[in-house]
Amino acid sequence: MCLTPESWELRMKTVFVTGAGGYIGSVLTPKLLRSGYRVRAVDRFFFGRDKLAPATGLEVIQEDTRRLTDEHFRGIDYVIDLAAISNDPAGELFGAATEAINCDARVATAERAKRTGVKRYILPSSCSIYGVTDDVVDESSPTNPLTVYSRANEKAERAVLSLADESFVVTVMRQATVFGYSPRMRFDLAINGMTYGAWKGGKLPLMRDGSQYRPMVHIEDTTDVMLLLLESEPGAVNGQIFNVGSVACSFQIEKLGQMVARVVSEITGSPVQIEWYGDPDRRSYRVAFDKIETALGWKARWSGEDGVRQIVDALRDGRLKKGPETITLEWYRDLHHWHRIIRSVEMYGSILDIE
Ligand SMILES: NC(=O)c1ccc[n+]([C@@H]2O[C@H](COP(=O)([O-])OP(=O)(O)OC[C@H]3O[C@@H](n4cnc5c(N)ncnc54)[C@H](O)[C@@H]3O)[C@@H](O)[C@H]2O)c1
Repeated sequence: MCLTPESWELRMKTVFVTGAGGYIGSVLTPKLLRSGYRVRAVDRFFFGRDKLAPATGLEVIQEDTRRLTDEHFRGIDYVIDLAAISNDPAGELFGAATEAINCDARVATAERAKRTGVKRYILPSSCSIYGVTDDVVDESSPTNPLTVYSRANEKAERAVLSLADESFVVTVMRQATVFGYSPRMRFDLAINGMTYGAWKGGKLPLMRDGSQYRPMVHIEDTTDVMLLLLESEPGAVNGQIFNVGSVACSFQIEKLGQMVARVVSEITGSPVQIEWYGDPDRRSYRVAFDKIETALGWKARWSGEDGVRQIVDALRDGRLKKGPETITLEWYRDLHHWHRIIRSVEMYGSILDIE
């Protein structure tokens, strides 16, 4: 992005990014810094602190979003509220925490932001709140959240939008399923997981029954939208919901699997076999993206195929590895498991060494 002196002036603003160490946050944060913003990054860092490299203009605070105070918001201009338990299975397993973090804490953050003079608040929600739809849905269609995760998103959307007024600009992004490279990689996301399986062992995992529709968006595209929303005319975005994705990047899951298998096979020169798993996934939604294109002139730049190639490149050159922390549900399960074990053996603040 090219900065003129005026836009530089505009961007000497501080953005409060919750969940900044997560999959989206660890791509968004350096992008904001490169664009001239200062960032106050707040995260529990469940996936490790190393995902955010130290940088000029970056302040890192390890805190839980359920324990924020007015002091955290001092000097903040904008909030992008990413912190959440970030998928359906984790939401089902940790229901109460998902309600508390994804809904209650975000509403409290938005209220606190407004009270302390923050000018804009962005809620990165999800297209999954459309649930199952036969028709193509847009931002004015009824929602049908089927899981704890989607219901928490929907409740948060309604509550934060009600705070919008002329001094507090609130925007909701309903993101398609994200794909692409991030320092905090998530192989539990469709394109990312398929690409890994196909590349590593020639076996591409595909969730039954494959007829479900799902829109996708590249991580560089959705983080570009976050910057665009910070800089758009308030009248164009205040109190608005935008689906974020594109028709070109919307797939029936079986077709998506075939595309990923073809691209990986072209790169590796080896055949890729599709392996079905799970019960048929009931979530299926076809989403319209006209609003963001006409109101903000935004169009997705990355195709699914671009994303597959980007991930394979990162796997090949060693930037990406599939550690246990790359599967969100399993990592939260592991943390709980080890927390119990460590608490039972820890003495005097240590395991083996005692001062
Ligand atoms: N990735 C996607 O496909 C996608 C799609 C639609 C919507 N979203 C939404 O975007 C947001 C970010 O998703 P992501 O993929 O980066 O998820 P992620 O799990 O990688 O990141 C979430 C971050 O929030 C932090 N966090 C969780 N609970 C916290 C708490 N109580 N206090 C402080 N930090 C906490 C975690 O440590 C993590 O770094 C989420 O709200 C998610 O629901 C993601």
